[in-house]
Amino acid sequence: MLTGLRGVGKTVLLREFGRTAEAHGWTHVPTEAAESQRFVESMATLVRKALLRLSAARRAAERARRALGILRSFLVRWNLPDGGELALGFDPIPGFADSGALDDDLAGLFAALGEFAQAHDTGVLFTVDEIQYLSQDELTALIMGLHRVSQDQLPFMIAGAGLPSLPSLAGEARSYAERLFSFPVIDSLPAGEAREALLSPAADEGVHWRPDALERIIDLTHGYPYFLQEFGKQAWDVAAGPDHITVADVEAAVPVAIHELDTGFFRVRIGRTTDAERAYLAAMGSLGPGPYGSGKVAAAMGKATTQVGPHRDALIKRGLCYSPRHGIIDFTVPMFDQFIRRWTA
Ligand SMILES: Nc1ncnc2c1ncn2[C@@H]1O[C@H](COP(=O)(O)OP(=O)(O)OP(=O)(O)O)[C@@H](O)[C@H]1O
Ligand SMILES: [Mg+2]
Repeated sequence: MLTGLRGVGKTVLLREFGRTAEAHGWTHVPTEAAESQRFVESMATLVRKALLRLSAARRAAERARRALGILRSFLVRWNLPDGGELALGFDPIPGFADSGALDDDLAGLFAALGEFAQAHDTGVLFTVDEIQYLSQDELTALIMGLHRVSQDQLPFMIAGAGLPSLPSLAGEARSYAERLFSFPVIDSLPAGEAREALLSPAADEGVHWRPDALERIIDLTHGYPYFLQEFGKQAWDVAAGPDHITVADVEAAVPVAIHELDTGFFRVRIGRTTDAERAYLAAMGSLGPGPYGSGKVAAAMGKATTQVGPHRDALIKRGLCYSPRHGIIDFTVPMFDQFIRRWTA
């Protein structure tokens, strides 16, 4: 379960997990949670896709009967559309995935899929991106469902990625999650790796970075992968070459890269915010780099903490901010405070 800020490479890593699984003959089915999506429906879709691929690859549609019947039970119980050719025509198998308790029903579904994959000497990996958009109940059900099938040693795995605002789990779900998943934090690259990320693709093309040019980019980007990509690209495009990129090239590329980030990467984040939420963001930005005490942000707006609390919560729900500790808030987007100051200037 990867967590980290925007643009650090979580999605890139999930795809890599998918490729690894497929290289071992497993089926990989990716999905991305969204603010406005029904979780049960996306789970049913994932299972359906996995069964479709497994049975097509192995000409085993007939043998998928049991798993499809269980999927059908789930679809009926959770009032989900049938999804056409696949589950249709298979009778629901009562007693599996149709209790109405989401964790039990997910366990039934995962077990059916895992058993089918096992019978065909293969496995299934689900990757769930943007997992912070699941509600606490949904994430709890997912963990409990997985826990129930984990004891059966079935070839079924889930990998997830999300912002540090991942819903916090309580009680049993929490201790199961700790056993079922590891929680690596993905962050900016250490200077050595950041240098390598710029040096190595350029070297492949016979181009070298002057040391001061390289250091300037590391300094500007703080090693954040998305920014390295953007500044690296613009410096490459600006440089006259033929085989060196100089610090003057980097300086010329800076305004272009910043403009690109401001109109793309940063701008999309504030796209759907309300005026009150933007005022909250502006107050955060006015205080310099985060994290920020909620009280200080409210004070900067001349308001009481309780008055602006709903906007703060809305920004967390949108995935723009997160709370690293109680009473503390920060941006989920690296260097967002600088953008806010440029934007409000
Ligand atoms: N291993 C890598 N190789 C090359 N580029 C990378 C790598 N990891 C990250 N990047 C760069 O960083 C960008 C952001 O990566 P990615 O989309 O995986 O971030 P993320 O953590 O999923 O961000 P978000 O939270 O916004 O979804 C990529 O588009 C790419 O430019
Ligand atoms: Mg991502």
